[in-house]
Amino acid sequence: MTQDELKAAVADAAVKEIEPHLEKDTVLGIGTGSTANLFIDRLGPLRDRFKGAVASSEASAKRLQALGIEVFELNNVGDVPFYIDGADEVNANLQMIKGGGAALTREKIVAACAKRFICIADGSKYVNQLGNFPLPVEVIPMARSYVARELVKLGADPVYRQGVVTDNGNQIIDCFDFMIDDPASMEARINAIVGVVTNGLFAQRGADVLLLGKTDGVERTALR
Ligand code: 5RP
Repeated sequence: MTQDELKAAVADAAVKEIEPHLEKDTVLGIGTGSTANLFIDRLGPLRDRFKGAVASSEASAKRLQALGIEVFELNNVGDVPFYIDGADEVNANLQMIKGGGAALTREKIVAACAKRFICIADGSKYVNQLGNFPLPVEVIPMARSYVARELVKLGADPVYRQGVVTDNGNQIIDCFDFMIDDPASMEARINAIVGVVTNGLFAQRGADVLLLGKTDGVERTALR
């Protein structure tokens, strides 16, 4: 199976996971990226079964709206029962690196408001140790150089993601050569640097369920 077929399989599995819980007043939290896009596409035919969605990016919001799904402001919704999103890396504790698509901050905010985070990923995203994928850090533009120097002190090789402006008007630094022993502690240390908006470690609030696409089927892991 190709990587795209594995992504499609986990998108199908996520629909099966949430469909029995859809109610007329359900607002879903929706992530960003190619796997999340496949999930969004599958929500189109179900649009009359739930109220709408909160999106973690402008791109996902547009895709949802194009399918006739109403997109709500998170501030007007409160908690969401599910947040469904992809990952760049995920480990056995369902901690993740996210933000390859630069949407990490909004993703983390919607995930924080979700009762259940369902991570959908093809098998290539599963790792024993997080860090092979360069860890994204969203920064206030004027703090970029300062934050980069602080990241070097933590052992990273920071690289400015040229030409990318986040939906929040900020910039992204990617941390290369940065294998992470203790994801929750590193998440907190990086977030404590002045000028950091957030980093792409989703360790303190990881996923509750992982749907991992493998050639022999979708493997489901539930921690909670
Ligand atoms: C975007 C993300 C995505 O979830 C992550 O990059 C995975 O993307 P894809 O599903 O395209 O592999 O965190 O900021």
